[in-house]
Amino acid sequence: MLQGTRVKNTIEEIYQKAVTALSTAANEEAVNQISVQYLGRKGYVTLFLRNISQLPPDERRFAGQRANEVKGLISSAITAAMERLAQDRGVDRIDVSLPGRTPEIGSFHPITQVMNTICEILGKMGFAVVEGPEVESDYYNFEALNIPENHPARAMHDTFYVSDSVVLRTHTSPTQPRVMEKQAPPVRIIAPGKVYRCDSDLTHTPMFHQVEGLLVDEGISFADLKGILTGFVHQMFDDQTTLRFRPSFFPFTEPSAEVDIRCVMCRGKGCRVCSHTGWLEVLGAGMVHPAVFENVGYDPLRYTGFAFGMGIERIAMLKYGIDDIRRYFDNDCRFLRQF
Ligand code: FA5
Repeated sequence: MLQGTRVKNTIEEIYQKAVTALSTAANEEAVNQISVQYLGRKGYVTLFLRNISQLPPDERRFAGQRANEVKGLISSAITAAMERLAQDRGVDRIDVSLPGRTPEIGSFHPITQVMNTICEILGKMGFAVVEGPEVESDYYNFEALNIPENHPARAMHDTFYVSDSVVLRTHTSPTQPRVMEKQAPPVRIIAPGKVYRCDSDLTHTPMFHQVEGLLVDEGISFADLKGILTGFVHQMFDDQTTLRFRPSFFPFTEPSAEVDIRCVMCRGKGCRVCSHTGWLEVLGAGMVHPAVFENVGYDPLRYTGFAFGMGIERIAMLKYGIDDIRRYFDNDCRFLRQF
């Protein structure tokens, strides 16, 4: 009887110690160690079972039965301890009462929005959208546009050179000869895209966007250019927005003009945005120069055409009343979220 009590105490002691150890195990590794310590080949429960044959015959049955029970109980406690630790790490733990996270909805950059609007307005006027490369050959950026080497107009462009004969395009005008080389008249295209110049201040950035326009056919005149651009400005802003054509010079157009829009910020009174002139230059334009037609194999006596290149950032500044062009590229989310 005395011995029976001792056997009972021993296996119960083993069980209690295993349960206590498991309840305080700090991690999976500690649980694995306890498993080996109690149930492994040389573990306490295994050794107890192995030594049962040395007990008096009347105690063996009870001891064997209880030791097998304890083995099962410790095994279940090990599984429970593993699950507890996994839950503490956050695995499989979902708090269904938490409010859901609202997905952040992105939007187009204001410049992209304005560019899309410009393409939409001109698209409705019958202009098809084409694209040209940003890394451009000297030939298309200058030569084909009647700007030969050493021509003073090259200095106006503040060009980023990739190599002697390759540049980052300084304007979208190279798309003109690219399109005309491949297509016979009539041509009626617009070419939106990025352009690059070594230039930076309130109204200039080193990378900016332009939309080129080109219309070639028989009998096209400067009046058509004025009509298209006036209609465009009225749709982009409103019927009250005035524009003016100033005589200008581009080697690839003759005659040439620069077009200003009455400053939308100060309504012409003069402010920081318009350098106190009441006007903001938004585009260059003119009648395609006969030399450009000759470079692409068009007959300048039969065809005439107009071209224009507008600065998107300038139009976006007027549209949204932004007084510093560089804000568009600071990537300040508080600024961008307003659009
Ligand atoms: C040109 O780039 C000519 N290719 C436009 C043209 C096309 C004339 C077809 C005739 C026929 P200009 O350098 O003036 O021209 O630039 C056109 C417009 O781009 C300017 O009116 C201005 O709105 C914008 N622009 C020019 N430089 C910058 C700059 N650094 N940052 C932002 N906008 C600029």
